[in-house]
Amino acid sequence: MISNKENTSMLNIENLTVEFGSIKALNSFSRTWSSRVKKTGIIGPNGSGKSTLFKVLSGFIKPSSGKIVFKGQDLTHQKSHEINHFGIARTFQIPCPFTELTVFENVYTAALQHVSKKKAKDISEEYLKRFLLDEKAHINPSELSLVDKRLLEIARALATQPKLLLLDEVLAGLRPQEVENVLRVIEELQRENNFHIIMIEHNIHAIKRFCEELVVLSSGKMIASGPVETCLNNKVVQKIYTGNTE
Ligand SMILES: Nc1ncnc2c1ncn2[C@@H]1O[C@H](COP(=O)(O)OP(=O)(O)OP(=O)(O)O)[C@@H](O)[C@H]1O
Ligand SMILES: [Mg+2]
Repeated sequence: MISNKENTSMLNIENLTVEFGSIKALNSFSRTWSSRVKKTGIIGPNGSGKSTLFKVLSGFIKPSSGKIVFKGQDLTHQKSHEINHFGIARTFQIPCPFTELTVFENVYTAALQHVSKKKAKDISEEYLKRFLLDEKAHINPSELSLVDKRLLEIARALATQPKLLLLDEVLAGLRPQEVENVLRVIEELQRENNFHIIMIEHNIHAIKRFCEELVVLSSGKMIASGPVETCLNNKVVQKIYTGNTE
């Protein structure tokens, strides 16, 4: 049964656990996202369960136990393409475009799962332009630079017109100016389309610059959650995440 809290929140996760053999990649993770908060960051040491959370949220893996309710819909046992149709799209930590398709076709095939051919073409052209990939539309994605591969990954996810976009370290390995450019475009698109973003990121500067709220994971558990500065100043977070005990 869906409770009142689950109905009014954007996303409600209850006691989500993901086990890989003896490893609890997520250990009873619970959190409610208000509809009001549009940009949340997730940080945590390597192996703390961040990507696992995205994989389970997007239906790529099934939880061992727990519940996921998105905009009043129980998505816990839905398949990934069904979850995408409900409005959740993700990027992959390691970009994985279809290399048998062109850059344009990668975005177009994603859009086509949701809209007509004409609209899919318009959407693809629009996003490629916004991410400055329009002049590279007909090349193979394997020829793209790292930053362009990341942009293609975001354009592909956005082409499915999500209500919630999950970004898994899309800024990793980018130069400061590239980080700023990518954040600016994502921010513009978010403002225009009013979707929610949850962003896994190791770049604290980007988190501070972009996010309204933060979730901190350690060993599959949430150790802090709330306003960014409050979480970053939390003693447990400083100890676990930065090694700083002062
Ligand atoms: N398919 C899998 N099989 C077995 N163990 C896995 C699998 N996927 C993840 N794990 C383990 O689950 C834990 C969490 O992994 P996860 O990829 O979610 O971490 P992460 O926080 O995204 O780390 P990183 O910052 O390095 O990307 C790690 O111990 C990892 O080794
Ligand atoms: Mg990861």
